[in-house]
Amino acid sequence: MRLLFAACLLGFSESAVAQSRILNGTPVQPPAFEWMAGLSYSSDPYEHFCGGSLINSEWIVTAAHCVEGETPSSVKLFFKTYYLSNPVSGYFSVDIDTFYIHPDFNDTTYDNDVALIHLLYPITSITPIRLATVAETYLTDAGKDQNIIGWGRLHKWSFGGSDTLMEASVPIVASSVCNGSQSYDGQISANMLCAGFMAGGTDACQGDSGGPLFTTDNNNELVLTGVVSWGEGCGEKNFPGVYTKLQN
Ligand code: ARG
Repeated sequence: MRLLFAACLLGFSESAVAQSRILNGTPVQPPAFEWMAGLSYSSDPYEHFCGGSLINSEWIVTAAHCVEGETPSSVKLFFKTYYLSNPVSGYFSVDIDTFYIHPDFNDTTYDNDVALIHLLYPITSITPIRLATVAETYLTDAGKDQNIIGWGRLHKWSFGGSDTLMEASVPIVASSVCNGSQSYDGQISANMLCAGFMAGGTDACQGDSGGPLFTTDNNNELVLTGVVSWGEGCGEKNFPGVYTKLQN
């Protein structure tokens, strides 16, 4: 992951500068989204490198590329931390028991970019977000609004991520559009979802990886539909963000 991040960084400094910010996001107001996890290289949230989502008391969903090359003891998780350098009172960090990378994760195509982290001790003080079921196809229909949150870059040319947890709203883009020759040209597999704007603008960015793509169900409850995975730059015209489709 450290290497990948460095590679991302290099790629960025070369790309053209455009308007951007979680490009175009707004700060998350505590105590919203307390199930949002941060992955850090130490118990200090400031060493954040990815996001994750608590889906029940013992399990976190994140991106495979976030934990690839790591060990359970090299990664810590933190919760209820809205400001990395100045966490709100009540924030805490927890140890990992183990993690499982999807057996078919492909680190070239990023197909099946999902991993499950098992905690050493269950967390009972946080209400998890539920996973979308396979039957709830409407949750990921084209045009269905989703939310993304993370501590990733605010601008594609930023050196580091955001100190403040940011949120933004992005609609699902049909894979037929996202896979078009002007866009990802066939790189979007059935296990991926595109969300964002073909015109560019609002998007996830480096550091948001592993974090949630989520929406509201018919009962107005939050449901996890995807994981921040990859994208061509951040907020680029014709290149919406790419997310792992959890319903698969
Ligand atoms: N791979 C990036 C990371 O490691 C996430 C990129 C998301 N990019 C995007 N344009 N939506 O943080």
